[in-house]
Amino acid sequence: MPGSDDKGWISDRRRKSDRRGPADRRSGADRRLVDKGNPEGDRRTRDERRAAERRGGDRRNEAAWQPIALEVAAAGDYDDAALVAAAVDAREYARARFSGFKVGAALETAKGEVVTGCNVENATYGLTMCAERVALYKALSEGRDVFTRIVVVADTEDPTPPCGSCRQLLWEYCGDIDVILSNLSEVKRRMRLSQLLPLPFDARLLE
Ligand code: THU
Repeated sequence: MPGSDDKGWISDRRRKSDRRGPADRRSGADRRLVDKGNPEGDRRTRDERRAAERRGGDRRNEAAWQPIALEVAAAGDYDDAALVAAAVDAREYARARFSGFKVGAALETAKGEVVTGCNVENATYGLTMCAERVALYKALSEGRDVFTRIVVVADTEDPTPPCGSCRQLLWEYCGDIDVILSNLSEVKRRMRLSQLLPLPFDARLLE
């Protein structure tokens, strides 16, 4: 019976993908890029392409999804001060009466717009929403679609990285964006989302 054991299930899946031809291996924002006649199918503006190159990798090319050390980028090359300031401001609105742990986030779109978020807790605890997902859901609900960076700010000496749920949602909707972790006085880490989520589950595996 198909699907009754691992082997059957795997070969079943293979057959299905053979019929459909090669799967689209892209994820996140990259999946929404449409070939508009450009031979490379790249509809980014020149500035967007340059920004991607400056960050050390082409987001459309999985081979380039190697972890890169943004930390070593020359300070002048990588200006995130305004984005960090926006996340610091957003953190002030955190509704964190149960944990006392206030977090701010600032998500940047490819057009340079900034959408902020803070964590929102409630008396059931479990319905808490992290700052990152508040920013992401705000942005998506306003029709924003392509993202480049997110800053996460907490008042901690060690960097505060996004939780597992936020990593998953950021990956699926933003792709391999830059993640900047800051406290109230300085940026602690700059990394790519693929470093935080190296083996992601996403829509590619459902094809
Ligand atoms: N929190 C965030 O908002 N973002 C993170 O990256 C880590 C955790 C929130 C959730 C909860 O309100 C509080 O911090 C403590 O976990």
